[in-house]
Amino acid sequence: MYQPALTSTSIGASDDFDKKDWASAYENVEQELSNVELKVSTGEIPKNLSGILYKNGPGKLERDGQWVHHPFDGDGMITAIRFDNGIVHLSNSFVKTKAWQEEEKAKKFIYRGVFGTQKAGGFFANAFDLRLKNIANTNVIKLGDELLALWEAASPYSLDPLTLETNGISNLNGVLKKDEPFSAHPRFDSGHHGVSRMVTFGVNAGPKSTIRLMEFALDGEKPGTLIKDRKDTFNGFAFLHDFVITPNWAIFLQNAIDFNPLPFITGQKGAAQCLSSKKNSKGKFLLIPRDSGKFAKEPPRIFEAPEGFVFHHLNAWEENSDVVVESIFYWDFPSIKPNEDFKEIDFNQIPEGILKRSRINLTSKKVSTKVLSKQCCEFGMVNPKCIGIEAKYAWMACTHKKIGNAPLQSIKKINLDSLEERIWNAGPKSFVSEPIMVPINSASEDDGWVLVLVWNGERLSSDLVILNANDLSEKAIIELPLAIPHGLHGNWVDN
Ligand code: CO
Repeated sequence: MYQPALTSTSIGASDDFDKKDWASAYENVEQELSNVELKVSTGEIPKNLSGILYKNGPGKLERDGQWVHHPFDGDGMITAIRFDNGIVHLSNSFVKTKAWQEEEKAKKFIYRGVFGTQKAGGFFANAFDLRLKNIANTNVIKLGDELLALWEAASPYSLDPLTLETNGISNLNGVLKKDEPFSAHPRFDSGHHGVSRMVTFGVNAGPKSTIRLMEFALDGEKPGTLIKDRKDTFNGFAFLHDFVITPNWAIFLQNAIDFNPLPFITGQKGAAQCLSSKKNSKGKFLLIPRDSGKFAKEPPRIFEAPEGFVFHHLNAWEENSDVVVESIFYWDFPSIKPNEDFKEIDFNQIPEGILKRSRINLTSKKVSTKVLSKQCCEFGMVNPKCIGIEAKYAWMACTHKKIGNAPLQSIKKINLDSLEERIWNAGPKSFVSEPIMVPINSASEDDGWVLVLVWNGERLSSDLVILNANDLSEKAIIELPLAIPHGLHGNWVDN
């Protein structure tokens, strides 16, 4: 076993973790490694894993004794773990954004963070400074020849996919206007319309919000070329972090959220801290027709969503006249208030993520919702070949306890039909991140590997754990020569 397993008697009981172990992951990344060969600690690397695991997440959390207010304000740091015939190499690099370079030089924070990090100097330094710091820390994808570090409120930063050298902001060969927002959550359509595509969006939010929906070619003659592009405007402020696709629809959940920018303008709060749940109000499902599908050029359709707040979706599919959407719901918008220390947060006071399935009937306009698991989870994914069609299995990070909120310490495989679950526990001093399911060529949907970066609170460093996707048994553990703070999203790129 990876670490002594938690006893089953502790399941659902009081907290099974020490918050200090969880918070020990939040330190600055002090090194940038280049192509370091890794040693396997336990097990062996599957020979059929051939490609690169890219992960992004906050790597710089403190400057000149000042901590970011929220880890989401930390500068993006990319880790690349390359697999080739059983041999593994690691490289990591900060995304050398304009703000990162300026702050490195100044040796202090000179930008405000969206999640509440303030510059030194109090009110007068922060009031009316509305510059956004593009920290490129949320996701990392490969599109054409470019490796892109994504942060949803601005354009992507382009890096060299092998050396991780930062090339600068990319406008994707003229697709994006200067500073145009570009989501950190593209969806990869593996061939709904004969060829594979990347479908993604950008939002201009305000009293009315406009969603730009884009589809890029992934293979064929010119990978990275924009092939579909449409814009739709909706009433109300749209906070849209993620979306899902089916062959015919791009599906968004517009949360019932108000944005009061005054405390941001006057320098008291970060922009994201000015979001609050709209009382007694439900969100909306926005279904935008994909221009590759059978409702091309038709206007969007709008349906009432269930109560709650959604960051991430799992998957969606079409079934007769239903569109089915699986999403992780919180009972309220989770945020860290101006006087709170993120390393001291009380998990019991933060809403937990609950996986639910909503069934939208396009004819009757009725929406019904079902809870799939009551255990707090985040970062779910299906086999990439099943994106947009009905999947039988999903993999996700979850808490060890069955009810209530806590840090993510386990990986779960769920059968989405029977709701049968299988769990792998990292152990009491270890904390998991987003699992990446890498399928192997097989007829079975759950054949493949699950790659997880784990914060090892014993070693104060990170481990890469490789699990069998079908039964979550441990295939290999690699102790990394790098301490990576709790991260955000990443992707697998096949060789
Ligand atoms: Co996300």
